[in-house]
Amino acid sequence: MQLKPLIIASLLILALSAHAQTIPPETIQHGPDWPNWAYGEIGPYSPGDEIAPPCPENASPLECAYYGAPPEKGGPKYTLEDSTQSFEVAEADNDFGPGDWYPQDHPEMPDLVAYGDKEREIRACSMCHYASGQGKMENGHVAGLPVNYFLQQLEAFANRERYSADLRKANPNEMGRIAALLTEEERKIAAEYFASIEYKPHVTVIEADEAPQVRATMNGLLLPLEGLPKQKLGQRIIEVAEHPERTELLRDPRAGFIAYVPIGSIAKGEALVTTGGGKTIQCGLCHGEGQRGLGDIPAIAGRTASYIMRQLWDVKQGTRTSPIMVPVVANLTAEDMLNITAYIASLDPTN
Ligand code: HEC
Ligand code: HEC
Repeated sequence: MQLKPLIIASLLILALSAHAQTIPPETIQHGPDWPNWAYGEIGPYSPGDEIAPPCPENASPLECAYYGAPPEKGGPKYTLEDSTQSFEVAEADNDFGPGDWYPQDHPEMPDLVAYGDKEREIRACSMCHYASGQGKMENGHVAGLPVNYFLQQLEAFANRERYSADLRKANPNEMGRIAALLTEEERKIAAEYFASIEYKPHVTVIEADEAPQVRATMNGLLLPLEGLPKQKLGQRIIEVAEHPERTELLRDPRAGFIAYVPIGSIAKGEALVTTGGGKTIQCGLCHGEGQRGLGDIPAIAGRTASYIMRQLWDVKQGTRTSPIMVPVVANLTAEDMLNITAYIASLDPTN
């Protein structure tokens, strides 16, 4: 038992001392096993497809985004069950102060989280990650992250040591410019705020051989299309907003996701995660019991499948610098990673 912390400590030192180089995404070949679904894309990338706007070092965060005109003011007011608030779509989606549906779900927000900063074109953290930090499949789940890990990731984004392997995905670039513009004090305030909130179950994993047909938003949110025949799942995960209108229009942080995963994938993933299967390292050694985090190593249980797969894939492609995770993914195929993702997403993050 003494050995585990020792191994972890030495691996961490190794990770801190390594200077891995990230790889320009335009040089990455999209093979047939590319997990388009993890990036909120319906089909494979082909030359000529729209790609994320260029995002040079001095760009403002919004220049890096797929940025449309904000919704018009003066629409009808909406309400949600269990919420005492009511907002128009324009209020719920206000980039610099989105409506807070459930103030009771989180401590009082620091201004940066609630409003961002218009001057520097920093949208509110709560716009993408929600006031509660529950997050969405197309961004990330920041509730309950260890403060040190949170700060380390902001630093990685700021230095472009973390960005998307898929050229089509713009929001990690925007995240990168946001991180670069934040002062040390602001980073700390945000990290401490989100660390103080517990991450709650947010995704339901269903094994199936079919899934709904979907449409994708520019930012990679997948929404089920009602009234159409189902599509064959094959070797994919199709993850969708469980309540499309509540998520897309109203940004209801309590509305979660459904991930349709191939039949048998959860058990195959469990075997790899718990034994390593001769191909990888047991995740719990570092990510803790039930993958609910250990010290400064983040919890991964019950995050959306798209998010989990995207991180594994980005590490494998070299656009997310993580020397400590490189050996974990080195010998895993896309199918192994999918199975691992199905299992990790199915875990209860709270016990
Ligand atoms: C435009 C949407 C957007 C806004 C606004 C935004 N983020 Fe993010 N954030 C993202 C995306 C997208 C990712 C990660 C995507 C990926 O790697 O797949 C991310 C990831 C993160 C992560 C890493 C999470 C993890 O588990 O590793 C942290 C920390 C974070 N954001 C903090 C913040 C803070 C603090 C703010 C406000 C100052 C903020 N974000 C504002 C989109 C956003
Ligand atoms: C030797 C320790 C170690 C092992 C084993 C390990 N991880 Fe990690 N993992 C980390 C660390 C540390 C991080 C934080 C990123 C960093 O420091 O580079 C991380 C980050 C992650 C992330 C990103 C989390 C986020 O919020 O963005 C995912 C997903 C992940 N690991 C999945 C796994 C899976 C799945 C396994 C098992 C197959 C695994 N890890 C095994 C140490 C480990």
